[in-house]
Amino acid sequence: MFLNYLKLKNFRNYTYLEHKFKKRKTLFVGKNAQGKTNLLEAVYYLSALSSNRIKKDSELIKFGENECTISGNCIKCDVEVSLDVIINPPKNKILKVNGLKKTKSQEFLRVLQVVNFSSADLMLMRGEPSDRRKWLDLAICQIYGAYYDKLAKYNKIRLQKSNFLAQFSHNSGLLEAFNTQMSIAAANIVYLRIKFLKELEKIAAKKHRTVSQGENLTLDYDCDLPKGLCVKELSEIIYEKLNSIKDDEIRRAQCLFGPHRDDVSFFINEIDAKKYASQGQQRTLVLALKLAELDIIKEKTGETPLLLLDDVLAELDNVRQNYLLNAIGDDTQTIITSVDTLAFDDEFLADVDIIKISNGKKI
Ligand SMILES: Nc1ncnc2c1ncn2[C@@H]1O[C@H](COP(=O)(O)OP(=O)(O)OP(=O)(O)O)[C@@H](O)[C@H]1O
Ligand SMILES: [Mg+2]
Repeated sequence: MFLNYLKLKNFRNYTYLEHKFKKRKTLFVGKNAQGKTNLLEAVYYLSALSSNRIKKDSELIKFGENECTISGNCIKCDVEVSLDVIINPPKNKILKVNGLKKTKSQEFLRVLQVVNFSSADLMLMRGEPSDRRKWLDLAICQIYGAYYDKLAKYNKIRLQKSNFLAQFSHNSGLLEAFNTQMSIAAANIVYLRIKFLKELEKIAAKKHRTVSQGENLTLDYDCDLPKGLCVKELSEIIYEKLNSIKDDEIRRAQCLFGPHRDDVSFFINEIDAKKYASQGQQRTLVLALKLAELDIIKEKTGETPLLLLDDVLAELDNVRQNYLLNAIGDDTQTIITSVDTLAFDDEFLADVDIIKISNGKKI
């Protein structure tokens, strides 16, 4: 997969930017607050229609303007595809693939495949369980589009059950009906999350072992359920669990059990990495997860996703930096940002398109 072309209009601090990507590796260099992260955010948004820096799409519009546009042109399976997003609240955003309007975001999402690695990803280690669930869900959606619907279904049932618990919990027949539906929807989510994490662990552990020179990485899906079960077995156990906590749920008017409360644990040599790993170890761990994600997407979709590296290379020591640069295959389009080129060795820079960014413009 190759992003040929990017155009931004009134996006963040860019009034207008056009860029043609010429090489597999592009390095955007600029001082702080010039628009480097904004640019990567635009590419990521074109893939995921979301960004971890925003609550509302309107934050992406340049101050004082009413709408913004992000357009891209990529080669996917040897075919050229154009993508346009127009954000103009309060109307719904307009999505176009090859100039044709798409009403469902599903038809637009991940036409462009991207794996993003920035310091914000360290929230995987330092953040809340909800940060890890969000990461896991997004990663699964990248390779298995139907997961998005399964997740939406579970969340809808959970919301309905929460409303029910808050208002009519004396109706035990209806609560049982909710629990039946919820246990099936929950089992689908838990099953896919465990399966994905197992696959990710295999690849990530290998990458992690090389860079950390022998440390052993393991991942665990944190839920109060036995492992190794099929969807049907899971849904039966979840149903029993929900039944056993019925009175508690009614009393507290909350959904107290299910994948919306689960978490992921990371262990380095069997020690809990969230609690005890050093900053460098945490960074390496997240890096290994990202590279593993990229490999899985490549294997499942046959397309190599774009890799976005926002300011992360300069923070790694030489060994890890070289490992990362070597680990990126020549077929991977990589867009990197940095405040300068000092952190990179000459061999790497020889084959990189270096673009200077200043105050929302290429210079
Ligand atoms: N909606 C917006 N409209 C106009 N400017 C914005 C908007 N959102 C953010 N900016 C500005 O964009 C500027 C550049 O932000 P960006 O995060 O891309 O910087 P950066 O080049 O990555 O800097 P750093 O090296 O510090 O990470 C910031 O000064 C910010 O105020
Ligand atoms: Mg930045």
